[in-house]
Amino acid sequence: MSSSAGHRRFAAAWDWLARHESARERRLRARLAGQASGRVLEIGYGVGSNWPHLPAGVEYVGIEPDPYMRERAVRHRPADRSLDLRDGDAQALDFPDASFDTVIGTLVLCTIPDPVAALREIRRVLKPGGRLLFWEHVNARSRLGRIALGAVTPLWSRVGGGCHPNRDTLETIEAAGFAVHDLRIGRIGPLPSISGLARPVGVER
Ligand SMILES: C[S@@+](CC[C@H](N)C(=O)[O-])C[C@H]1O[C@@H](n2cnc3c(N)ncnc32)[C@H](O)[C@@H]1O
Repeated sequence: MSSSAGHRRFAAAWDWLARHESARERRLRARLAGQASGRVLEIGYGVGSNWPHLPAGVEYVGIEPDPYMRERAVRHRPADRSLDLRDGDAQALDFPDASFDTVIGTLVLCTIPDPVAALREIRRVLKPGGRLLFWEHVNARSRLGRIALGAVTPLWSRVGGGCHPNRDTLETIEAAGFAVHDLRIGRIGPLPSISGLARPVGVER
């Protein structure tokens, strides 16, 4: 369940930004979402920027807690796809254990209030052998960069729909019990970014 009041202005801004992503960013989404298979859960689908890149035949469920994002996303819904779109919170997923082959999360662990809780839930709902496909901007590596991102975080978060530019998300994914593969380091504007796939380690059911 989700009780998000939403961020109307941020959803409008994100919708605009999504329509103006660079070719490189679109290619990254295509590479990532194109690896989805089987039963797929996307957490925080925003305005649906990954939808054009989903392989044919996947069984897609998307959750998005922000009503303004959901409202905008349906305008971009592909006519030829069947997408199960729901309200929902990645920190408390309303799905049984081991029910998805793939989880997609892009630019979302920066915003979820408790990313550790979300990753715990992702682990729970992934089938053995399942994968988390991720793309996230992350904290700077340099001391000065970390100080700068820490300083701008309160204001950034207020105008950016709760986004935190100073999260060490790679470390958080690994600490949550995932092994990261195919890690790629890049940038989103001024921010370092990471993308790749993560598999739960030590899952025995
Ligand atoms: C920066 S937007 C990214 C949207 C989309 N994933 C993309 O790649 O374009 C962050 C998204 O995370 C969503 N979000 C925030 N808290 C969440 C939560 N607890 N569970 C799931 N999604 C959440 C927001 O509503 C928003 O749609």
